[in-house]
Amino acid sequence: MKAKRVGILTGGGDCPGLNAVIRAAVIVGIEKHGMEFLGIEDAMNGLLDLNYRRPRGNRWLSVEEVKPIISKGGTILGTSNRNDPFRYVVRNEEGKAVEIDVSDRVLENLRQLGLEGLISIGGDGSMRIAARFMRKGLQIVGVPKTIDNDIGGTDQSFGFDTAVNIAVSAIDRLRDTAESHDRVMLVEVMGRDTGWIALHAGLAGGADAIVIPEIPYHIESLAQSIRELYKKGQSHAIVVVSEGAKERGGEASVIEEVPGGMLRLGGAAERMAQKLRQLLDADVRVAVLGHIQRGGSPSAFDRVLATRFGHAAAELVARGQWGRMVALRNGSIVDIPLEEAAQSRKRLDPMHPLILTARALGIAFGDESIRG
Ligand code: F6P
Repeated sequence: MKAKRVGILTGGGDCPGLNAVIRAAVIVGIEKHGMEFLGIEDAMNGLLDLNYRRPRGNRWLSVEEVKPIISKGGTILGTSNRNDPFRYVVRNEEGKAVEIDVSDRVLENLRQLGLEGLISIGGDGSMRIAARFMRKGLQIVGVPKTIDNDIGGTDQSFGFDTAVNIAVSAIDRLRDTAESHDRVMLVEVMGRDTGWIALHAGLAGGADAIVIPEIPYHIESLAQSIRELYKKGQSHAIVVVSEGAKERGGEASVIEEVPGGMLRLGGAAERMAQKLRQLLDADVRVAVLGHIQRGGSPSAFDRVLATRFGHAAAELVARGQWGRMVALRNGSIVDIPLEEAAQSRKRLDPMHPLILTARALGIAFGDESIRG
């Protein structure tokens, strides 16, 4: 019987655990099912241009190549969060950035490469692209990744646990210096328009306040919570600020709008610091953790989750069950329709049990203080 030949790619922002998925899928696929895997370079770039070589281009993956990569951060295949084939950005004659649909080119190139299908490891954007390709007849299996933990249909995505751990160890360090100098330290974490990283890192790091996009804040309420800490004798404060945080009635702080539709967030904590300095008799400092949260070796939890996802993806391909995304539900690995995952973003419910626990501990959210 002819071996099943599939492409495998990583799309969207990188995160710890991508290599562990590639590793598991390739080992299970080759050793158990006799498949062949073409590693596609830089997300869709390797499918949009078959001569794409940055740095190496597409290549057949072997068990020997993937076996040692479980502890390696980033992705051996490279990635990009700017090459949606349905909204591909090119310059028109006047030099203006315009979007065109080049998805047919991807399908034609897959045919030329003799690939039967594709495993796409990516975030919500990649899952939406995968669902659109599926509607065009491409056989595709999705694997959810993101530090933001905002992909619908799965309880958790890998990358999130590592990012939270990095943020917690940063908070621990920042508390030492905030305490020494009697300062208010604002720690800006990633997460786009969801507050999962901020909430988990803030709880685990013992923050005094957590500001998330799902609960717009009131600057005076935040300042008042810090004043109350001072009254109780605490001379410093740790405030974890999600990059998508916004004031009540305001908008998130945007650095730039990237052609292709993505907003680049940043500056939320600095914007808050400037206002807090006017309201508090305190030294306010800002630490932006940024891409540090996306790098480095994955945590044991993420390695295990990514390995389970990679295994499950290879099994779906072996059974010819296309159009599915692997997911974690109540501790078990399941698969759900790609469409379902593509249609839902997982945002925090303001009544989420972790938020109630945080409030019960006296952690402020910048709205009115509710103790559970
Ligand atoms: O989606 C992952 C993420 O790290 C977000 O938390 C963040 O807003 C964004 O990607 C940053 O993207 P970039 O790597 O393009 O700066």
